[in-house]
Amino acid sequence: MKGVILAGGTGTRLRPLTHIINKHLLPVGPYPMIYWPILKLKEAGIDDILIITNKGDLSSFINLLGLGEELGVNLNYKLQQRAGGIAEALGLAKPFVKEEKFIVLLGDNIFQDSLVPFITSFESQTEGARVLIKHVSDPKRYGIAMIDEKKHVITSIIEKPENPLSNYCVTGVYMYSSEVFQYIDMVEPSDRGELEITDVNNYFIRNNSLQYDVLTGWWIDAGTPQSLYQSSELVYRDLLTD
Ligand code: DAU
Repeated sequence: MKGVILAGGTGTRLRPLTHIINKHLLPVGPYPMIYWPILKLKEAGIDDILIITNKGDLSSFINLLGLGEELGVNLNYKLQQRAGGIAEALGLAKPFVKEEKFIVLLGDNIFQDSLVPFITSFESQTEGARVLIKHVSDPKRYGIAMIDEKKHVITSIIEKPENPLSNYCVTGVYMYSSEVFQYIDMVEPSDRGELEITDVNNYFIRNNSLQYDVLTGWWIDAGTPQSLYQSSELVYRDLLTD
C-alpha cells in the first residue's frame, strides 16, 4: 500500500511561527513535525510515500528529506497551488496511487498508536474507506462523527460543529480505495472556500462503505500553539520512557 502525507495549508493558527516556515517543518520533540507521519508509515511497512505541499515550501522539504534516503523511505513530491482544502490536496494524489488502496495522513496529526492493525483491517475490507476516530474534549475544533455504537457505524460527520452531538473526532488518518477520487470531483467548496474531507467521507457514509476504528493511545492535532507545545511534551514523554 502507498502512503500520502498532506503538508500544505497556511498554518494560520500558528502565526507568526508559520510566516516563513511551513508548519510541518516546525519542531515536535527532537524532529521536524513531518518526520512523525513518515516514521508512522515506515513502521507500518509503507515506504512509498507522496508528500503534497505548497510551491514556496517544496525546496525546504527537499533540502530536509531529499528522496527519503536517510529515513529509509522512497519520497515523492507534489505541489498544491493554493490551500484549497484537504480534499483538493488529496485529489492531486490520483496519478501516484492509481487504482490501489492507500492511506492518507494529515501532516500535523501526531499520535501514539501503531497503524499496523488498522491497515490490516482495511486490507481485508472489500470496498470503501476507513477512518480512525478519537474521543476529544474540544469537539468544536474538528470533524465530529455521530456513531451508532450497536451497529458499529458512523451515521454522519459534521465539520467543526457549533453544537457538537458527540465527542468523537475524525482524526487525520484516512484509508481509501480509489473511488475516493470520484467523490472528490463531486464535492463543492464549503463556506470557507475549501473542498472538505468531511464532505468526501459523508459520501462514503451514504454509500454504507465507511468503516472506523478508535485510537486508544494519545492523539493530537498540532496546529495551534498550545497543541504544538503539548505534542512535543507527549513525544518526549514516550521517548524518555522507552
Ligand atoms: O486534525 C483532524 C482534523 O483535521 C479533522 O477532524 C477535520 O475534519 C479536518 O478538516 C482537519 O481540520 P483542520 O482545521 O485541523 O485542518 P487544517 O486546515 O489544519 O489542515 C490539516 C492538514 O492538511 C494540515 O497538516 C495541512 C494540510 N492541508 C490543509 C489544507 C487546507 C493541505 O495540505 N492543503 C490544504 O489545502
